[in-house]
Amino acid sequence: MDNRREMDQELILKALKARENAYVPYSKFAVGAAVRTKSGEIFDGCNIENISYSATVCAERTAIFSAVSKGNRQFTRIAVAGGDEGKEPGDFCVPCGVCLQVMSEFCGPDFEILLVKSEKEVKRYTLKDLLPVVFDSLKR
Ligand code: THU
Repeated sequence: MDNRREMDQELILKALKARENAYVPYSKFAVGAAVRTKSGEIFDGCNIENISYSATVCAERTAIFSAVSKGNRQFTRIAVAGGDEGKEPGDFCVPCGVCLQVMSEFCGPDFEILLVKSEKEVKRYTLKDLLPVVFDSLKR
C-alpha cells in the first residue's frame, strides 16, 4: 500500500470511530468525520444534537471547527461516515449544504470529500463536484 492510500485509510478509520461518540437522541442517525490539515494532522468530530433542533451541529463542522480552533485553516481532505446509530452505515452519507458552505470557507475546489460506507467502500468527490458554484460576493 502506498503512503497516500495508508493515510486515507487512517482518515477513514478515524471517521468511522468518531461516529461512536455521536450524540443523536432525536434522529438516531450517527455521523463521524475526520479532516486532514495541510500539515498532516487529523481532527475528528461527530454530530451533536439538541432538543432545540436547530442547535444541532453536524459531524463535519464539529471536525472542521475543532481544527480551526487549534489554529489550522488549510485542509486537504475529509472523510465522512453516517448511518443508523449502533449499526454499520447502510449507505454513503453526503454532507449537507451548510457543511459544504463551511468547507468552502477554508478549502479550495479540489478539496477531497471521501464518503465512507465501510473501510473498503469509499466514494470520492471534490468540493467542486458537490458545490459547483458558491457565494463569494463579499470577497474583494
Ligand atoms: N448530519 C451530519 O452530521 N452530517 C451530515 O452530513 C448530514 C447530517 C447529522 C445532523 C443530524 O444530527 C443528523 O445527521 C440527521 O440529520
